Amino acid sequence: MTKRTLPTFLYGGDYNPDQWPAETWTEDIRVFKQAKLNSATINIFSWAKLSPAEGQYDFTELDAIVAQLSAADFQIVMGTATAALPAWMVKKYPAIARVDYQGRRHHFGQRHNFCPTNPDFLRLAADLVDHLAARYVGNPHIVAWHINNEYGGNCYCEQCQAAFRQWLKERYQTLAKLNDAWNTSVWSHTIYNWDEIVVPNELGDAWGAEGQHTIVAGLSLDYLRFQSAALQKEYQLEKATIEKYDRHTPIMTNFHSTPNKQIDYQAWAKDQDVIAYDSYPAYDTPPAQPAFLYDLMRSLKHQPFMLMESTPSQVNWQPYSPLKRPGQMIATELQAVAHGADTVQFFQLKQARGGSEKFHGAVISHSGRTDTRVFQEVAKLGQILADVGPQIKGSQNQARVAILFDWANYWAVEYVAGISQDLDYMQLMLDYYQPLYDLNVPVDVISVDDDFSQYDVVVAPYLYLIKPGLATKLTDYVSAGGHFLTTMMAGMVDETDNVYLGGYPGPLKELLGIWVEESDALLPAQTVPIELAGQATTGALLADLIHPQGAEVVGKYAGEFYAGTAAVTKHQVGSGTAWYVGTRLAPMGLRALLSQVLQMAGVASLTHEPTKVEVTKRSQADGQAYYFVLNLSNQPAELPHEFATGYVDLITTQAPAQQLASWQVQILQAR
Ligand code: GLA
Ligand code: ZN
Repeated sequence: MTKRTLPTFLYGGDYNPDQWPAETWTEDIRVFKQAKLNSATINIFSWAKLSPAEGQYDFTELDAIVAQLSAADFQIVMGTATAALPAWMVKKYPAIARVDYQGRRHHFGQRHNFCPTNPDFLRLAADLVDHLAARYVGNPHIVAWHINNEYGGNCYCEQCQAAFRQWLKERYQTLAKLNDAWNTSVWSHTIYNWDEIVVPNELGDAWGAEGQHTIVAGLSLDYLRFQSAALQKEYQLEKATIEKYDRHTPIMTNFHSTPNKQIDYQAWAKDQDVIAYDSYPAYDTPPAQPAFLYDLMRSLKHQPFMLMESTPSQVNWQPYSPLKRPGQMIATELQAVAHGADTVQFFQLKQARGGSEKFHGAVISHSGRTDTRVFQEVAKLGQILADVGPQIKGSQNQARVAILFDWANYWAVEYVAGISQDLDYMQLMLDYYQPLYDLNVPVDVISVDDDFSQYDVVVAPYLYLIKPGLATKLTDYVSAGGHFLTTMMAGMVDETDNVYLGGYPGPLKELLGIWVEESDALLPAQTVPIELAGQATTGALLADLIHPQGAEVVGKYAGEFYAGTAAVTKHQVGSGTAWYVGTRLAPMGLRALLSQVLQMAGVASLTHEPTKVEVTKRSQADGQAYYFVLNLSNQPAELPHEFATGYVDLITTQAPAQQLASWQVQILQAR
């Protein structure tokens, strides 16, 4: 099979002409062209319109939309429309609607709420997709198939329970193995028959908000694995249905959120021809956060990704949605491109006049005018992308530093009962990402299954759950000269959350050259002083009591009854090193520590002086390099010295200005 890729740099987004009279489409398309949009994503939520009753289809309207966009030479991203259920379907098959964490069967309403194992849903979804694919296959304007929408959430219905038991049988084979994996001797939880297993919702072994607490972590982790896999199977069914007709066009779904906790995107990535991501940073989101998420999305396939959704102005669902400042929209869209996006797409192209998203921003606003501030900026970005998109498309971001991100750990760390309720997986990820971001050191955010050997430094915050083989893989990596850093809670448990006995950090003890005896939980405002390579800093959240066993002490506590003992250690193994940080280091301390690791590993920054701008680099296979210099702030900022001469800014086609205005971006190419 040929590699399925997008033909050009797409600039467009979700367009819902089926929400409007057909007479309005011509004018919409004219206006889109004025802004240099070249693509539209359609048919995302149109199931009820396409199918008024079971087995009945009417494609008249969609035919007309496709014909009109094709005639205008738009690149169409075709949705499969399965993410919002028609009313007739839920009336006829009530079990298609999910049962929630509280045990309540939902009725018709909302979207993204189908039971992933319900046979009627699977049959009806496959039938719709079959009709759709058969009808539109071969239209050269369809450049991608977009399956469903923003998969997520869990179902706790009887059907899922039955499917879960089956999934467990395949995973464990025997109940003895299952009882062992879940350590069911605690609280009389021994399972004697497969049909005694019940879903871990609020009525069963979980409590508190969904994903927050559980009695049997092995059960709850397995349920999350199962639900992610069940939704993935639904995705695979739709994909296979399209592939019956079309084996050339890229197929994907759109990933989302911070990131979506319920869906293991690393497991899903293999089924995506291209990764597509929806990005909605809020007004107060630090720019390092979207950067981290873009790096995660790019690293899922180590390929450029699609920025599938973003808002040209405001959203309607965050608590406050201040206007994006002049230039801010362009800068934040280009930030995604800087981190590897090969499309810029909006939700949505035309603002709805009714429904829940009528106050969500769009390219064409309620005024219908093109002399608006937002439209003018969209058009300006359209010109930039028309100029530079073709050159940049397909170029790669290269990183020598990796951060390990792992969904099983995301789930397990946040389920931990004790010793602090403030364990926040994303927070520690961002703690470690921030100094690398500030130093303009390129980072890949990779899976524990990725090849580590291409990185000089691998950083693994909260590597709490260690699956079989991982400790050996890390040891081999370090022995071969790699530099590995991990943190408090590392190596504590196996895949079903049972503790590795013999002292923490379990299977990583030898590699790290330490033994952790106890861990102090620091209260919310409490810090412990730390002396780190001659500098004073602090630790928070947890403070591990560490016994070095071969490791060198790099940082010591300077307070509490454990003053003078190790807080940060470094263990030389062959030509590599293994570092352990037993507390949540304050930002300056962490930055100093990471600088030390980078220096030792010989990893250079893209900038050689402290700077307020973000700099990334994308390179084409022929060596052509593009530096993105982004001022993601409301203040002007200086261009880093090394770019002062010898570069042209592809946006202005001039030598780069030495000072970037607020929200200014330069795309620099060596002369
Ligand atoms: C999500 C959905 C879209 C739309 C936007 C609004 O990303 O996929 O359909 O609701 O949010 O921000
Ligand atoms: Zn279900």
